[in-house]
Amino acid sequence: DRVIKVGLCGFGVVGQGVFNHLQKRENDLSDQLGAKVEVARIAVRDTSKKRDFDFDSSILTTDPLSIASDPEIDVVCELMGGTGIALDVTLEALKAGKVVVTANKALICDHGEAVFAAAEQGGGQILFEASVAGGIPVIKAIKDGLVINRFSSIYGILNGTCNYILTRMTNEGASYQDILVEAKELGYAEADESLDVDGIDTAHKAVVLAYLAYGRWVPYKDILVQGIAEVTQEDIAFAKENDYAIKLLATMDVAHASGKLYISILPTLVSKKYVLGSVDGVFNAVSIHGDVVGETVYIGPGAGRDATASAVIADVVDAAKLLVAGGSQFVDPAPRGGERIELAEPEEIKS
Ligand code: NDP
Ligand code: HSE
Repeated sequence: DRVIKVGLCGFGVVGQGVFNHLQKRENDLSDQLGAKVEVARIAVRDTSKKRDFDFDSSILTTDPLSIASDPEIDVVCELMGGTGIALDVTLEALKAGKVVVTANKALICDHGEAVFAAAEQGGGQILFEASVAGGIPVIKAIKDGLVINRFSSIYGILNGTCNYILTRMTNEGASYQDILVEAKELGYAEADESLDVDGIDTAHKAVVLAYLAYGRWVPYKDILVQGIAEVTQEDIAFAKENDYAIKLLATMDVAHASGKLYISILPTLVSKKYVLGSVDGVFNAVSIHGDVVGETVYIGPGAGRDATASAVIADVVDAAKLLVAGGSQFVDPAPRGGERIELAEPEEIKS
């Protein structure tokens, strides 16, 4: 049988989850693919750190770029985060014609255009299901399942950490700071948690969804962004009294009159009678209004080791299928004619 060799760049919360489930389901995957999926190399910062699973430490390196350029490696999983070394590794691997799987929304948001161009030039492929809404396969939904639709709006609870904090503040009156510490311990929060609580991570994910749905890279500066740090217990009490919940909501709305796309990330009062108002804890939800299908809603765990590993591995399996079939040709995931859509400025959104 063919062996598909995977290089894991990053062996933290997500990387170890991917390793664990690839090991546990090795036989299932071999049966499904007619090929063995093997983690052949792993890059970390600190090789002496204790890890949560047993593995052969001889496959460790502190040089992720050496994995990106290794001719033996077929699929590079970029699970380090940030836009520094993560970008270098991604571009290097794509130049070498490999498939790159990433969970990194900051990378796709800030450098999507360059990354897609590198994939096209190198004949590689970039897959990023885990970058939005953790374990919910919402990217596949927009790209494939809803391909015939034009979208009038997309509403999303896209950050598990914020939803976890808001839910615990609501249900238990717990303190914002204490729950944030817990969200970090549970592996939900970003290495720099201000990305979560300031709404930046949600905005990164909105840019990725907007690209898929509208075919345009929306500049981050054109999004109105406010996080949850200023949500008070009084705000929460007011929401509860009126049968609402406060959710950090990403809103993408194409205005009827102007046809312009408005994108905002704001703490929002959502009725408990509406499905998104009752999505609690680390769960995310995305409501998508397509002109052919109507409204579809996707709910599931939005962060955490196993949920995110599930999405990353879905991409690894797609990569393996491409490779087994004989090629990893770049395919633009959103050939949607983005010139149709005009963007509204944040000032217009505020007014
Ligand atoms: P972690 O901080 O837990 O893990 C990062 C890993 O990358 C660590 O193993 C670290 O090494 C390694 N690393 C960092 N920099 C380097 C470097 N320069 N060279 C070699 N290795 C390096 O992060 P997560 O696993 O939580 O997140 C990874 C990515 O997944 C991020 O893009 C994040 O946004 C995304 N993501 C995370 C989710 C989650 O629930 N945690 C959900 C969805 C997406 P070492 O262990 O030695 O420090
Ligand atoms: N920090 C992110 C969150 C991880 O809490 O949603 C998932 O992208």
